Amino acid sequence: MKTQDKTVEATNDTSHDKVSRADLIKFLNEDLSREYQAIIAYTVYSQVLKGAEYMNIAAELELHAAQELTHAIAIAQQIDYLGGMPTVTPKPVRTSESAKEMLQFDLDNETETIRNYRERVQQCEDLAEYAIGEKIRDILIDEQDHQIALATALGKNVPRGPGGA
Ligand SMILES: [Fe+2]
Ligand SMILES: [Fe+2]
Repeated sequence: MKTQDKTVEATNDTSHDKVSRADLIKFLNEDLSREYQAIIAYTVYSQVLKGAEYMNIAAELELHAAQELTHAIAIAQQIDYLGGMPTVTPKPVRTSESAKEMLQFDLDNETETIRNYRERVQQCEDLAEYAIGEKIRDILIDEQDHQIALATALGKNVPRGPGGA
């Protein structure tokens, strides 16, 4: 009886450090919600950004919108592969009249997305889901490009540290 209890404890300890496949599905659905958020934000912001100094970045944001859609499809595909149901709900999209503020919202979101995808790559490797990890690494390359484009447009350094580059 005592031995059995210990076994249960040990199993719980392991799941504390490593995510389960169910956790991974849940986290990937949060990633998918962030991708939807990005699609919406870039679609709208790319059209409403005004001012000669923002014309280049507005064109760039249109490109980001298309890339975010390919990310959303890739993440939904992995959720389906894992036996989950892809979410249909985006994270809330903030709006502003100010071009600077819109770009800052995008930059903040990209930084948060990058932080999450870095965790996700580690979690995929812990679960020996190396192929999913590889797909997320490819997405990370795009997200870092987005982050750099936004930081540059804002005349800022790319955010560093745990949530940065
Ligand atoms: Fe994305
Ligand atoms: Fe992005």
